[in-house]
Amino acid sequence: MRNKHRKPSAYCSNAGSKYSLSLLTFIIWGFVGCVLMIHFYHIIHHNDQEETEVKLSNHMVTRELEEVEEENFQIPPPRGKRSPRAVLRRGPRKPPTAIDEFLDEASDMRPFFFPGRRNAVDPRKGGNYSMHFYPARIWLDTDGNPIQAHGGGILFDEKSETYYWYGENKDGETYHAHKKGAARVDIIGVSCYSSKDLWTWKNEGIVLPGEETNITHDLHKSNVLERPKVLYNDLTGQYIMWMHIDDANYTKASVGVAISSSPTGPFQYLYSKQPHGFESRDMTIFKDDDGKAYLIYSSVDNSELHVSPLTDDYLDVTRVVRRILVGQHREAPTLFKHERTYYMITSGCTGWAPNQALAHAADKIMGPWETIGNPCVGGNKVFRMTTFFAQSTFVLPLPGIPGLFIFMADRWNPPELRDSRYVWLPLTVGGLADEPLEYNFGFPLWSRVSIYWHKRWRLPQGWRTW
Ligand code: GAL
Repeated sequence: MRNKHRKPSAYCSNAGSKYSLSLLTFIIWGFVGCVLMIHFYHIIHHNDQEETEVKLSNHMVTRELEEVEEENFQIPPPRGKRSPRAVLRRGPRKPPTAIDEFLDEASDMRPFFFPGRRNAVDPRKGGNYSMHFYPARIWLDTDGNPIQAHGGGILFDEKSETYYWYGENKDGETYHAHKKGAARVDIIGVSCYSSKDLWTWKNEGIVLPGEETNITHDLHKSNVLERPKVLYNDLTGQYIMWMHIDDANYTKASVGVAISSSPTGPFQYLYSKQPHGFESRDMTIFKDDDGKAYLIYSSVDNSELHVSPLTDDYLDVTRVVRRILVGQHREAPTLFKHERTYYMITSGCTGWAPNQALAHAADKIMGPWETIGNPCVGGNKVFRMTTFFAQSTFVLPLPGIPGLFIFMADRWNPPELRDSRYVWLPLTVGGLADEPLEYNFGFPLWSRVSIYWHKRWRLPQGWRTW
C-alpha cells in the first residue's frame, strides 16, 4: 500500500521535474527563437532598406531618362493624283505608310529620318550639346569623320578602362548584286573606335580588313561581314571577335572568328563554320559574370534562335546547343543581364526595313526564354512599331547604375548604307512586364524592359565606377 502511495508521489515529483524541465527548455528555445527572429528581421529589413535605398537613388538618377517624350510627324499626302480612269481601275492612290516614306529616297521626310551634316554631333565643338546623344544625327569621330561602326557592339577593356566600339565599316558604294538581292556594300572591314566617355570616339582604324584579291577568302569584298562583336578572354588574355560571315546571297549563313592580343587589333581571321551544322545569320556573343561566353544566332531560315556555350578559349562553340523562341522569326539579337535574369531584345525579319522590337527574358541563359512585349516607350505609335526606325545591335550596361543600359540600334539607310545612323537610347529594367505568363498564377515573373525615346539625352552622373 505504502509503496502504492509512494509510487504515485515519486511519479508525481518526477513528472513535476520533467514538466519544469520541459518548461525551462521551452522558455530557453523560445528565447533563442525570438532572438533569431529579431536578428533575421533586422538582416532582412536592413537589406530591404539598403536595396530600397539603392533602387530609390537609382530611380532618382534615371527619372529624367524615363520621362515619356512624344514625337509628332505628319506623313505627306500621296504624290501625284491618279487619272479618273486609273481610279476606276485601281481605286484612289493609297496614302503612303511611314515606312514607305522612310524607305523612299525622294520623300520630303528624308531630313526628318536622316538629318543633314549641319546638325552633326561633333565632339571637337564644345557648347551646349556636348556629351548629348542625338539619335539618328550624323555622329562624327574626333577627326571630324562620320563614325563607321554599323551593326556594332562595345567592349569595355578593364586593363585600359576604355570602351571599344567595333562595327561594320560600310563607307563604300551601295549597290544590288542581283535585281532582287538586298542592297549591299562590299566588305571593307571591321572598324574600331575608342572612348572613355562613350561620346567622344577616336578612330582606331580598321582592325580586321576585307580581302581585295583572294576570291576564295571568307572576307573577300564580294562577300558579307556583319554584326562583329568582341569579348576579352580572361584565361588566354586574347580579344576574340565573332561575326556573321556570308556570301552575297546569304546562303553561306556562317559565323566567323578572329583573334588579337590587343583591343585595337590587328585581328587575325581564323575560320568560319555553321555552328552545330545549322545556318547562322544575325548573331551576338555574351560573356556572363562567371566568365562563360555564349553565341546566340538566328537559324533555320531565321525562324528560331540558338544559344550555345563557347569553349573556354572562346574560339569555338561547344557541342551543347538549345533552340529558343522557336517559330518566332526573330533576328538582330542583343543579350544582357540584370539581377540574375537574362534579357534579350530582338527585331523581326524585314531586311534593312525597320520593324517592331520585342524583349524576352529567361532565368537561365540556355532557356526557356519568354517573350515579354515591345520595349519601346514614347515617340509615337509608328516609332514604337518600328523600334524608332531602327534595329537592335547591342545593349551596354552602365556599371555605376545597375538597371540602366544603353540600347544601341542601327537606323539603316538602304539607298545609301554608308549613311546609316546610330540610335542610342536609355534602357531600364523595372516595373511589370506587359505580357505576363499564363502559368504564373497572376504574378508577373519578369520585370519590364523599357527603351525610352529621346531626341536628345545624356548619361546621368555616376554612370561610371572608376
Ligand atoms: C537584316 C539584318 C542585317 C542585314 C540585312 C540585310 O535583317 O539584321 O544585319 O543582314 O538584313 O538585308
